Amino acid sequence: MAKVSQSLQGMTDIEFPEVNIWQTLEARAREVMLQYDFREIRTPIVEMASVYLHSLGDTSEIVQKQMYAFETRGGKQVCLRPEGTAGVMRYVSNNQQELQDARLYYMGPMFRAERPQAGRKRQFHQLGVECIGSTSARQDAEVIALQAALFKAWNLDGVQFQLNTRGSMEDFSKILEGLRSELMPVTDDLCDDCRHRMDNNVLRVLDCKNPGCKKVVEELSPITTWMDPASVAYFEEVLATLDTFGVDYVVNPLLVRGLDYYQHSIWEVTSNRIGAQDALSGGGRYAMKANGKTIEGVGFGIGMERVLMALAEETSKAFSREKDPLMVLVGQNEAAQTANLTLLGELRGQGYRVRMDLNGKSMKAQMKGAGRQQARWVLIRGESELDAGTIQLRDMESGEQKEVAMADLVGEISGLV
Ligand code: HAM
Repeated sequence: MAKVSQSLQGMTDIEFPEVNIWQTLEARAREVMLQYDFREIRTPIVEMASVYLHSLGDTSEIVQKQMYAFETRGGKQVCLRPEGTAGVMRYVSNNQQELQDARLYYMGPMFRAERPQAGRKRQFHQLGVECIGSTSARQDAEVIALQAALFKAWNLDGVQFQLNTRGSMEDFSKILEGLRSELMPVTDDLCDDCRHRMDNNVLRVLDCKNPGCKKVVEELSPITTWMDPASVAYFEEVLATLDTFGVDYVVNPLLVRGLDYYQHSIWEVTSNRIGAQDALSGGGRYAMKANGKTIEGVGFGIGMERVLMALAEETSKAFSREKDPLMVLVGQNEAAQTANLTLLGELRGQGYRVRMDLNGKSMKAQMKGAGRQQARWVLIRGESELDAGTIQLRDMESGEQKEVAMADLVGEISGLV
């Protein structure tokens, strides 16, 4: 049993200085969203379980094994959201305007009862986008380009966009039938899971990791074989528009995605910097029933924990340093600390990030504290500086220190920050 002092397995505290990286990623993401004219939506973390049960697909792993679902005291079946799309569809379905043209994004925690490992948490965070109201292939491409713009804003390299199409909802039954007929004679070569999938989830045979299944899959016709030519043309237009936008991608004909609501374009982004759980994000075009309406949209969800893992060390370091460098005031004695209290207010009044010890610590302890707090500059005053009307300005990165007249201090600092 977990001790009360521990967090639950697969659920972690995000603490300083890592939390600074999150804040930088979020701030940069908001700028990109503004450029693409997407607005934020904050939906509840707890939803009626039915919002998810009927939209993700009965055979999806999330619905079968991973939902945190429970009954409230009032007898309602609810769940912690395992993803964002279905909740956003519930919201959109109640709003006529949004049904016609919604460009929405969200950031926040999602919950899946998975076996925790590196890059796989039970509480994780997604940055998601949903774009509703357009059925154009160009819209799919714009949403993919938005995702590429985010990765660029995050200095995230070594990523690969893998794209595929699942065809239209009408194509779907033909694809399943075609796949089944080709697989039927070779069922014995499939793993137990895939034999089971033949009946209820045959598409997932395509991305099975089992070597025997991979061999079988190599011999299958591509799923475009069973699609209407219009669906193939739709996908080609997505790719052509991505070329126009200058977004790099590869087509992966075996990519299928694990949620039932997808149709037409689907994609995943992988990173060569993270291990087995290499999908940074997944997305696609979908048609989902909510409130008796079928809503079509296109969107994606980015796993933020995985993005943090995939950032180059240099970038993580840069992002963990906060935008406004910290100044710490240090005083040798009571008189200096009293004078520093006044300076503290003055500098804050001018918008600087500044703090000082308020607990009567020794000068040595104050200096140590400044190091721990990752101060960029330390302003030090002793008796002689007080007498001379000066202060020592120490650059904590270079270790250089110089004496500055109090009258010149603000000018000096504004040249630094
Ligand atoms: P998803 O592929 O289930 O899609 O999740 C998107 C991303 O969330 C994954 O690529 C991964 O980075 C991250 N993720 C998923 N599960 C975990 C986990 N247990 N721990 C850490 N990260 C995880 C969706 O959720 C769709 N709603 C995306 C979408 C939006 N499609 C259209 N609109």
